[in-house]
Amino acid sequence: PTGAKASDGRFAFTQIPTSTADDVIVPEGYKSEMLVRWGDPLWSDVPEFDDSTRGTADSQARAFGDNTDGMDVFSHDGKTLLVVNNEYTNRDIIALSAEDKRIMAEDDIAKGMMAHGISVVEIANDGGTWKIVKDSPYNRRITPQSEMELTGPAAGHDLMKTEADPTGTKSLGTWNNCGNGVTPWGTYLTCEENFNGYFSAPENPDREVSPELARYGVSATDWGYNWAVIEDRYDVSKHPNEPNRAGYVVEIDPTDPTSTPKKRTALGRFKHENAEAVVNNDGRIVVYMGDDERGEFVYRYVSNGVYAPGAPTDELLNDGILYVAKFSDNGTGAWVALTPETTGMDQAEIHIHTRQAGSKVGATTMDRPEWISANPKAPEIYCCLTNNKKRGVKPNAGGDDTSVNGPNPREKNNYGQIVRWRPDGGDHTAPGFTWDLYVLAGNPTVHSDAYAGSANINEENMFNSPDGLAFDSNGLVWIQTDGNYKNEGDFAGQGNNQMLAGDPVTGEIRRFMVGPNECEITGLTWSPDRRTMFVGIQHPGERGNSHWPAGGASVPRSAIIAVTREDGGLVG
Ligand code: FEO
Ligand code: CA
Ligand code: CA
Ligand code: CA
Repeated sequence: PTGAKASDGRFAFTQIPTSTADDVIVPEGYKSEMLVRWGDPLWSDVPEFDDSTRGTADSQARAFGDNTDGMDVFSHDGKTLLVVNNEYTNRDIIALSAEDKRIMAEDDIAKGMMAHGISVVEIANDGGTWKIVKDSPYNRRITPQSEMELTGPAAGHDLMKTEADPTGTKSLGTWNNCGNGVTPWGTYLTCEENFNGYFSAPENPDREVSPELARYGVSATDWGYNWAVIEDRYDVSKHPNEPNRAGYVVEIDPTDPTSTPKKRTALGRFKHENAEAVVNNDGRIVVYMGDDERGEFVYRYVSNGVYAPGAPTDELLNDGILYVAKFSDNGTGAWVALTPETTGMDQAEIHIHTRQAGSKVGATTMDRPEWISANPKAPEIYCCLTNNKKRGVKPNAGGDDTSVNGPNPREKNNYGQIVRWRPDGGDHTAPGFTWDLYVLAGNPTVHSDAYAGSANINEENMFNSPDGLAFDSNGLVWIQTDGNYKNEGDFAGQGNNQMLAGDPVTGEIRRFMVGPNECEITGLTWSPDRRTMFVGIQHPGERGNSHWPAGGASVPRSAIIAVTREDGGLVG
């Protein structure tokens, strides 16, 4: 029912209705303020964002990147550091030279490249309002041009060697950084997702790539970024090993702007969504990860060593065992180790062709695993399965069967669901687990079958395509959507993309926020005092119908907003 009161249950807010306004809507008693937008300079000698040009390659390289995604806040030496993924860029918005969403002018191609990567920026609370601190010595852009170190089992393997790097241990750059994670030792994990869409063979557009690259969606045609036109290394006909050096989790020390990010190949190579790290009861580090593609898999990494505060941590994400999930229809499941014995592949290859390794052991094909988050109040893990219109229709890219199965129970699944599992004995390294579905999204105003959603979905709180997911320290689970915002047909009454909060115990879900037109809500973290919630608004106006945040005829800009309670209370 509507009219839920702030005092009801565990929710400190009244549910808001759906919205199709070109604005951010939050509940009564809350307010949202702008923190930082695509193109905002991180240093005072960089020009302010110019709507008429949308900047240059030079200005973009020293400004906040585009399409904000996973993020976290770190306290260090009395400072507050915000670290944010800038996943990709809307080519027809950033580049005036774009033709059919393909960027044509060289400086625009380079500008698009520099809009990718990670932004590290100090923030400070100035009289109740969070602002970025320009010229902070911690401010940093990490881009496709930044030097990376390749570490772990795949480093130095022949498949990792290129003309520019005959050692196979140093690569250039990170891009399509989607979700994130943090380690207990205070580093940031950024996750390389759709790395494939940047490679092409402009002079050989009919060129077939190897089946190994094809499994990852690499082809002779990119998605319109045209990077191969300005940099040879993105030409897959000339440098076929270059794509093997992307698709990893990358560890970054935000407290040292001169540190070299480390690609952690031990955590596997796939379209990484996020990396949820937990410290197991015995001190081992367990990282849960999803591969966001139709019919791909869920993974777990378990370190061999244990974490001890103050002891060296460098090997904890290099030396361990990677597992893939098999869900049974009866509510149990098992983690299958990916080893030379189980896969017939050598150790390095397992960490380069990880999808193929998962297929070999019969991993369960999932409906696009997006964010994974651990409940801080119980040994249980939640994972968004955002949607999969090909469920039951088409095998995955490896030819694996995608008939409906336990956690993926609907054919042509256009709404998505959230699966959760509990490791046997509360031990995150245990071989087995039990699982259930926390929610099946759906539309009860259109359907009366399974597509209406589970019992905790109703006309007031419905949504589609859960994607971002994060528990707060109180144990509420926050759900962000990246779905269909047409507000008609199967999606009638669901409005713009939104953020909701769920109670893991009762299953109740309430809508907290709705975003502007054609955006996705993604990325969520809190200030150290937990009185501010930072939320990412990605790709507003991706189809040309938003002028958020400035309004009028302005260029739409991805941004991070700060949400606070008007009474100054704790948020979440
Ligand atoms: Fe970048 Fe799967 O979302
Ligand atoms: Ca996502
Ligand atoms: Ca998504
Ligand atoms: Ca997205």
